[in-house]
Amino acid sequence: MARILITSAIPYINGIKHLGNLVGSQLPADLYARYNRARGNEVLFLCATDEHGTPAELAAAKAGKPVADYCAEMWQVQKDLSDGFRLSFDMFGRSSSPQNHALTQHFAGRLADAGLIEEVSEKQVFSNADGRFLPDRYIEGTCPNCGYERARGDQCENCTKQLDPTDLIDARSAISGSTDLEVRDTKHLYLKQSQLRSKLSDWIASKHDWPILTTSIAKKWLNDGDGLQDRGITRDLDWGIPVKRGDEDWPGMEGKVFYVWFDAPIEYIASAKEWTDAAGRPDADWQRWWRTDIGADDVRYVQFMGKDNVPFHTLSFPATIMGSGEPWKLVDYIKSFNYLNYDGGQFSTSQGRGVFMDQALEILPSDYWRWWLLSHAPESSDSEFTWEAFQQDVNKDLADVLGNFVSRITKFSRAKWGEVVPEGGEFGPEEAALIDDLTARVRAYESHMEAMEVRKSAAELRAIWVLGNEYLQSVAPWTVFKTNPHRAAAIARLSLNLVRLYAVLSAPFVPDAAVTMLDAMNTKDDSWPDDVKTALSALPAGHAFTVPDVLFVKIQDEDRDIWADRFSGERS
Ligand code: 2FM
Ligand code: ZN
Repeated sequence: MARILITSAIPYINGIKHLGNLVGSQLPADLYARYNRARGNEVLFLCATDEHGTPAELAAAKAGKPVADYCAEMWQVQKDLSDGFRLSFDMFGRSSSPQNHALTQHFAGRLADAGLIEEVSEKQVFSNADGRFLPDRYIEGTCPNCGYERARGDQCENCTKQLDPTDLIDARSAISGSTDLEVRDTKHLYLKQSQLRSKLSDWIASKHDWPILTTSIAKKWLNDGDGLQDRGITRDLDWGIPVKRGDEDWPGMEGKVFYVWFDAPIEYIASAKEWTDAAGRPDADWQRWWRTDIGADDVRYVQFMGKDNVPFHTLSFPATIMGSGEPWKLVDYIKSFNYLNYDGGQFSTSQGRGVFMDQALEILPSDYWRWWLLSHAPESSDSEFTWEAFQQDVNKDLADVLGNFVSRITKFSRAKWGEVVPEGGEFGPEEAALIDDLTARVRAYESHMEAMEVRKSAAELRAIWVLGNEYLQSVAPWTVFKTNPHRAAAIARLSLNLVRLYAVLSAPFVPDAAVTMLDAMNTKDDSWPDDVKTALSALPAGHAFTVPDVLFVKIQDEDRDIWADRFSGERS
């Protein structure tokens, strides 16, 4: 039995994520977690909310709530949505947890002890009206290069020139609009990542099996020079993890917090401690996943994320871990994704363009979304959601192929023999051929799943469903029954067993439908078909079953049009 540690990029706390975010990390991570559990591997699947940083503070201010209350509420919202999508996290933690505070401060202390932290004095814009330092992108003004009036302190989005806040003409706070700004001295901690360049470079070079998307981004940042610059890991904000050196205060750092991107990946580790603490279990239980000196050396650690997150996971977080000098587990494999676009453009929160997780569950059960999103995961390039494709694929794959097979065979069997698996008859060459075809496809499905080839896995699963339909169509038990009821019984027996097999194979993609199928087959036997022939005799003659409700209702043109209009962003 293998031990697999899986983390999905932790979503920002401010706002509900859209379907593009979901398919770029959490959903494929869940697919992989469910598959590995089904194969009998020991899995620890972790996620959390990413709660610190200015966007969280601003969102809380906009909602008129203290930031801690806002985050607690939004954590619950995100938790409920992840439950709604059946994301099977062992722990959905919070980067603001006491566990993450302690661990982040611990790492900072270790890095300082290793001589990898430098104190740097810098000048930063302070807003008197807002009573705070302003991050560069929260300063607006006129671009000195092109005259654009809403240029940000880090860059002008009109002419793309990189700017310093002090370059802006008529600079003002993007928070309050106040122009009462002054430049003040402030001190920050920098992580000397550049000192770890050769270690990181060797480590990345040793990852021959990583997806090209991951390594190409990592190498670009590593070799560009920019990527491995020493990195400021503290900020002048109120909300965040106070800067400490382990348990000790850090002189000169009073009132400052760690930068959100420093503490967020550490939450991958902290969430494991949240997990055991919540159950009152000892530290050894989470450390065996994370500490190579106490058991984690045989763990395979896989991370899932969108491509924008790759630099932080291939360089910054490994730099934190390597720099600590402690035996923490480094990632073994990084599965990264391109973007999912929405109907010819991008998802946009501000314009209400695209479908967000809460809206998706309002209109259709999660299996519909899971199937479509995973079978169109943006792996080799960006992919695109359109309502036409969604309707067509869901209706065909889920309703016409899988749903139809289950409905047809259960109804036919009930009509002829009642709700029990019929006895009698023999398997013939058609069944032998089906078993051979299924065996080949199930083995291919396993290898795609193991390789985290999400689209290929979905295609193989679809082909497995199609085999059942084609078999049923060609052996036509409804016709055979008239002349040879025993033969028809053998066909039905095999096909009812196929329903159970489909439940097991499909569960990582469509877990709710899988439960319905297993319930209808009146069995808890969800064992993996190591041998397809044996698996197809799990339900013996005489075993009771029921006809399930319709598994998937087809999406009608009318609904498709209403939804396309509702989520177009044109009416906001
Ligand atoms: O892109 C995002 O949504 C970030 N909140 C991901 C952080 S992943 C990790 F580093 F914790
Ligand atoms: Zn400009």
